[in-house]
Amino acid sequence: MSILDGKHILLGVTGSIAAYKAAELASRMTQAGAHVDLILTRAAERFISPLTFQSLTGRKAYTDSELWGGESHILHVGLGHAADLLLIAPCTANTITKLAQGQANDLLSITALAAQCPILIAPAMDVGMYEHPATQENVRILKERSVHFAGPAAGRMASGLSGYGRMLEPDEITGHTRGVLGLRAKLAGKKIVITAGGTQEPIDPVRFISNRSSGKQGYALAQAGIDMGADVTLISAPTALTPPIGANLILAQTAEEMLDAVLTESAGADALIMAAAIADFRPAETALKKLKKRDGIPQITLEAAPDVLKTVANLNSRAKRPRVVVGFAAESRDLLANASEKLSSKKLDMIVANDISTTDAGFDVENNRVTLLYPDGKQEKLSLRTKFDVAEIILERIDTLIKTLEK
Ligand code: CTP
Repeated sequence: MSILDGKHILLGVTGSIAAYKAAELASRMTQAGAHVDLILTRAAERFISPLTFQSLTGRKAYTDSELWGGESHILHVGLGHAADLLLIAPCTANTITKLAQGQANDLLSITALAAQCPILIAPAMDVGMYEHPATQENVRILKERSVHFAGPAAGRMASGLSGYGRMLEPDEITGHTRGVLGLRAKLAGKKIVITAGGTQEPIDPVRFISNRSSGKQGYALAQAGIDMGADVTLISAPTALTPPIGANLILAQTAEEMLDAVLTESAGADALIMAAAIADFRPAETALKKLKKRDGIPQITLEAAPDVLKTVANLNSRAKRPRVVVGFAAESRDLLANASEKLSSKKLDMIVANDISTTDAGFDVENNRVTLLYPDGKQEKLSLRTKFDVAEIILERIDTLIKTLEK
């Protein structure tokens, strides 16, 4: 279940050509289970109609015409009180200025001033306006008051000019929204390091040995961690995936790079989750130049790659070892016996045993079927579910393990 599910989002739309993107944003959030109510400023109504939003969300799109209606006394403070988040996307320079100065002369600015929920702003304005000292000062004031910002990005504007001021894309704004909603969640303040993807061990400049892994389970863990408020570092081998917004991304191609990154990042962290498929063997030598066919079939000698988890397990100092260490065991036979052997040999607090012999779960697909094993012999078998749902359960269990240590 995504963090957006059941959340009440108040989406403010102001007068920018990027208003058309707010329709997609409202639609995405609604599909993710959020209840999205709209407030359009008068200028926004010139770009997009309230009906567009009402049709996409099945909910109300408020405009300034309501401000003087029979419900106005409830509306002007009620909307901001009931919401989990006030998101203003697109937000013009004018609205940013009004919010910074505490002006309240339309339904959106009144709601923002009365809001008790977090506020997230996705600025959208033409080149020069965002970088103008006046706007920068207003942004600074709002940030100081804990207002959150998503973007803007640099890019080409509708005016044909390029520079800072382009509103982020709807999926990016959704990512920022998840991050802000997660700030109050149960893993807030906890540092969690997650590895993902299959490492690549070079044979020559164009070839490598790798492990089969899409990285999907590790990336789902990173997103679920952000949703739950954790400070997430994602150490990723090369994948085709887009990293979740809010994750501190570190790229590591080889087992050696993975080892260095894990030792640096997980020192003193609350939890380390090793979902990466790290090479056990690597070429003993890497050819500096591409191996040529005409030189015959090469004989590649392999050597052991570093075992990252074993190295972490053998760290003695609390300053270096993460508090909770979780491994994965991808097995094609004797799943539980092999996983439990890894649990004890790698001194883990939990291992996620993954049966890779089936086709409906595991590699490349969206679902996973795993069993969680603990050092006291307890086993928890989870039915087939999405990798995101698996990730949420793993993080729930990690939260319990951290809390037990804190007692
Ligand atoms: N792992 C690691 N370093 C390696 C290989 C694996 O840290 N060089 C971690 C993986 O990220 C995973 C756990 O160890 O969390 C188990 O990985 P797996 O490949 O299943 O086990 P191995 O210990 O490599 O044993 P085998 O391949 O013989 O099953």
